[in-house]
Amino acid sequence: MYRSDLLQDKRVLITGGGSGLGKSLGRRVLELGAHLVICGRRADTLDATRAEFDADFPGRTASHVCDIRDADAVEAMLETIWQDGPLDALVNNAAGNFLAKSEELSPRAFDAITGIVLNGTAYVTLGCGRRWLRDGHVGTVLSIVATYAWTGSAYVVPSACAKAGVRALTQSLAVEWGDRNIRLNAIAPGPFPTEGAWDRLVPTQELEDTWRNRIPAKRFGEHGELADLAVFLLADQSSYINGEVVAIDGGEWLKGAGQFNFMDALSEQQWDAMNPKRKKG
Ligand code: HXC
Repeated sequence: MYRSDLLQDKRVLITGGGSGLGKSLGRRVLELGAHLVICGRRADTLDATRAEFDADFPGRTASHVCDIRDADAVEAMLETIWQDGPLDALVNNAAGNFLAKSEELSPRAFDAITGIVLNGTAYVTLGCGRRWLRDGHVGTVLSIVATYAWTGSAYVVPSACAKAGVRALTQSLAVEWGDRNIRLNAIAPGPFPTEGAWDRLVPTQELEDTWRNRIPAKRFGEHGELADLAVFLLADQSSYINGEVVAIDGGEWLKGAGQFNFMDALSEQQWDAMNPKRKKG
């Protein structure tokens, strides 16, 4: 889809890049010539991913253990990264989520999610932005949100609040920093199976089938599709796109929104009865 040097020598930090969608995106930016930095909470996960990437792209991946909920740890990580030179791009991918009845959420449960998704994203974004502004360096930020950043969603309220906050952060800073060569965009994915999200959010086969059936495309997303959209938004060639949130969900969220979209459940006979003037193709 892209020429093989599209991201040549770009330095890209992906938070939560040791697993899931962040790992898939990491591999894609390496294929296109980038140098990759990944961070996450678990050293063993990061080590395994770095070893895997080093085997295919020797010496182009660095990793840092960092819980992005800890602002001091984020600052220390960014200082270390910048000692080897500036980043060119940040992907805010790290997230946490679980299904819960909201009346049963403890304060610590709410904080666990918003701490990662909203506060952590803000700490890393502001830390990178401050350095880019100080040095007059071009920078781009891409945040992974969710389609419920627009709509909200029952049963994932801490995540919905936090993802909506990240959308606001993206759109606010896109304007505030847009005159100084820093741009921010976001991707709102629908369902893309990953170990982390799937175990927590789609615990049974029945739920998985119901969910798939709700999507106009009648399938879940593939990691490569999301990675290629992310690459497009990270590349210099898309530098006029700023403050945008792009959904990639097979039409899922619009399906839930359109007033008459439930009519796909009607049979041919019901259509005949409802509309006698019907012209069948
Ligand atoms: C209710 C829960 C809970 C659950 C944790 N808590 N899991 N409450 N239901 N399933 C509560 C705990 O009881 C505790 O509160 C508080 O949250 C903190 O829990 P800890 O386990 O101590 O926190 P921590 O180890 O930091 O765990 C973080 C986590 C965890 C986010 C909660 O699930 C995690 O590490 N997740 C990994 C990443 C992940 O979730 N990836 C999927 C992202 S998918 P108390 O009061 O008891 O002390 C995504 C995209 C969505 O975001 C879009 C899909 C289409």
